[in-house]
Amino acid sequence: MTTKGSRTPVGIDFGGSGIKGAPVDLAKGEFLADRVRIDTPSPSTPDAVAAVFVQLLASFPDCDGSVGVTVPGVVTHGVVHSAANIDKHWIGEDADALFTKATGRDVHVVNDADAAGLAEVRYGAAQGRRGLVIVTTLGTGIGSALVYDGVLVPNSELGHLEIDGHDAEKRAATSAREREDLSWHEWAKRLTTYYRKLEQLFSPDLFVVGGGVSKKSDEFLPLVEIDTEIVPARLRNAAGIVGAALYATEAED
Ligand code: BGC
Repeated sequence: MTTKGSRTPVGIDFGGSGIKGAPVDLAKGEFLADRVRIDTPSPSTPDAVAAVFVQLLASFPDCDGSVGVTVPGVVTHGVVHSAANIDKHWIGEDADALFTKATGRDVHVVNDADAAGLAEVRYGAAQGRRGLVIVTTLGTGIGSALVYDGVLVPNSELGHLEIDGHDAEKRAATSAREREDLSWHEWAKRLTTYYRKLEQLFSPDLFVVGGGVSKKSDEFLPLVEIDTEIVPARLRNAAGIVGAALYATEAED
């Protein structure tokens, strides 16, 4: 493994089906070793997930920097406050404390979309962009990160905006497209409604669209009819891991 020895951070992306981690080179925003993936335990209770983290960190014995962990929910001061798409036992859990105790490492937990947002602004599609960047991740839910002049305003949760009486992510996430077997055109109409609402509320300078489907952005982004520039994420599925490692290292300083 080509780690640089001490103080290399590790990022962990905790998702509904897999828990993935890798050591991260923060100078480049790249993995320093191959990513390791372990199935998310079912049920994905805090203790069961913590045990997976211990196992995962054992794959990178030379990396003793901070550990950043993404969680698909609201996180303030290390405590998880919502669990739209994960086990409800997470609500109220002091995840920083639990993971720090379980792993013996300095662990910092961050919302998954916020981690992706930090990574895209530092190393990816919004690198060097000033003003308001809104990074959205389209997956099971819709995650969002608001980044103004490079500074994150955490926990924006814009996937849960109510639009036409619906929770936005229930209509416009990738899972809605799959569940309802929508064509790219049909889905793009829903995305247009969604991004128009965000435009109206925030007047952003740039939208970045992440999540697994962003690799097929040619199929749907040109069909989204809005005035704001909208581009695919660049870090793809590395964004959560890289952003989590960045977040944890900055939280430690
Ligand atoms: C959650 C967010 C999360 C997003 C993407 C939403 O349902 O409320 O916290 O960022 O899904 O995983």
